[in-house]
Amino acid sequence: MTSTKLFAFCLAACGLSLAGCEKQVSYTEDVQPILFASCLSCHDQNSEGYLNSGFSLDSYESVMNGTKFGAVVVPGSAESSSLYLVIAHKTASEIHMPPHTHDALAEGRGVSLTDEQVETFRLWIEQGALDN
Ligand code: HEC
Repeated sequence: MTSTKLFAFCLAACGLSLAGCEKQVSYTEDVQPILFASCLSCHDQNSEGYLNSGFSLDSYESVMNGTKFGAVVVPGSAESSSLYLVIAHKTASEIHMPPHTHDALAEGRGVSLTDEQVETFRLWIEQGALDN
């Protein structure tokens, strides 16, 4: 096969494997920037989110390790992943993330993620929560 034909073949094969035309989500390029912008202020090693739950965002590994009670990401199932449930507002409102407390809102850190950002997390988890 010439390289052009090979390229065309790969495109077709990739297109088929992503039935439904879902985009392949990247942890490094899509997920981590949202975590850093919207969550890190409370979930680094010195802050309230980490101190209360043990959930740190320092690395892919720490995200997968979850809280002191266990994993918050179940690869392949967003609906079983509390990380997804808290940002998609599918839990009791007290544990929505980011928390919508008056203080957090006043400091500009309690704003909900956009639907598109929530969808990015859903797809990332459904696609296996890869370190990609
Ligand atoms: C204003 C501070 C703050 C921000 C911003 C914040 N969190 Fe949290 N987070 C907390 C606190 C505090 C807890 C502990 C809550 C508790 O245990 O009652 C927590 C707990 C969690 C938990 C554990 C929930 C559980 O199962 O007990 C997850 C998962 C989480 N946060 C994810 C996120 C994500 C994802 C973001 C960004 C979209 C985020 N947080 C942003 C403060 C914050």
